[in-house]
Amino acid sequence: MALQAQIVGWGKYLPSRVLTNDDLAAMVDTSDEWIRQRTGIIERRIAAPNETTAEMALRAAQDALRMAGISSRDIDLIIVATATPDQEFPATACILQDALGASRAGGFDLSAGCSGFVYALAMAAGAIAAGMSRLVLIVGVEKLSRIMDWSDRSTCVLFGDGAGAVVLRGGEGPSGILSTTLGADGSGGDLLALRPKVSDDPNGRGPYITMDGRRVFKFATRVMPSAVSQVVKEAGLSLSDLQLLIPHQANQRIIEAACEAMGFPMERTFSNLERYGNTSAASIPIALCEAAEEGRLADGDLVALVSFGAGLSWAAALIRWGRAERVVWY
Ligand code: ACO
Repeated sequence: MALQAQIVGWGKYLPSRVLTNDDLAAMVDTSDEWIRQRTGIIERRIAAPNETTAEMALRAAQDALRMAGISSRDIDLIIVATATPDQEFPATACILQDALGASRAGGFDLSAGCSGFVYALAMAAGAIAAGMSRLVLIVGVEKLSRIMDWSDRSTCVLFGDGAGAVVLRGGEGPSGILSTTLGADGSGGDLLALRPKVSDDPNGRGPYITMDGRRVFKFATRVMPSAVSQVVKEAGLSLSDLQLLIPHQANQRIIEAACEAMGFPMERTFSNLERYGNTSAASIPIALCEAAEEGRLADGDLVALVSFGAGLSWAAALIRWGRAERVVWY
């Protein structure tokens, strides 16, 4: 029988510096009222200038391993989902592997924008079911402040930095990842992209994010309901069976519109974006950690994760929360 990937540990890391809407209003032509009304965001965290993506990943990963009660030497695969690695290579996953002393692990980075963490979850679930990996560490981490155009009010108010991690272990049901779906539409790639640094830029910007917010909004509210419906249907269940929906934390209005389109109640949806903004690949694992910390996940609960982002890409996963009846060790 194929093993199911079960989440046995989770952790998060948020930098200590808080950037409020009022702070941003002192930098660009915006206001706390506009940002709250249009996005739901009140503040976000910003990494220290010398704080790296790999360091944030390490803090979240250590938390997750501690909770799982697992030694880093037992991990056999590390996947780091990020759009903001410290450098193109070596992979953040390899830097993390070394810092953790995960001497038996292979590692690679995964680039799927804000969908990266759910993509990584699907890859890990597949590797576990295929018997290729036994214990997998996944981290979603971003230092988006590094690629922000701090003069562009239409993007700089939206994003934040942070990291979230989970440890997955193979076990025999009933808990674990039940189904996943991945999607991509590269024809929309230009709607959300990283522009390269140009030497004569009057604003002296490094590489920076550009986005067509309105079209990304429409895309998100279209793909989220269909992705959630798909994973629920594939597991032979229905939307009403879901105890919790953890959507990508980009914009409260996107979450509300997607829930309305699905006929899914907002009170069964988790949101923490008012405190962190959009942390891209880190948003879902951070939200998952906080949902668990707040007691919103009980053994046996069905929880769906759904994300969308650069690519364009989207992904969803359906999880039966809880530990395995019989943990499989090798
Ligand atoms: N403060 C004040 N005014 C602003 C700001 C701001 N920060 N930003 C834009 N405006 C203005 C615009 O210039 C525009 O003015 P105009 O009417 O005079 O032209 C007006 O506000 C309305 O702009 P819209 O873009 O239509 O505003 P909208 O309600 O669509 O909200 C937003 C913009 C918040 C960006 C929204 O479109 C959105 O959330 N889109 C999705 C973005 C997203 O989720 N991106 C992440 C993808 S995930 C990843 O992979 C990174």
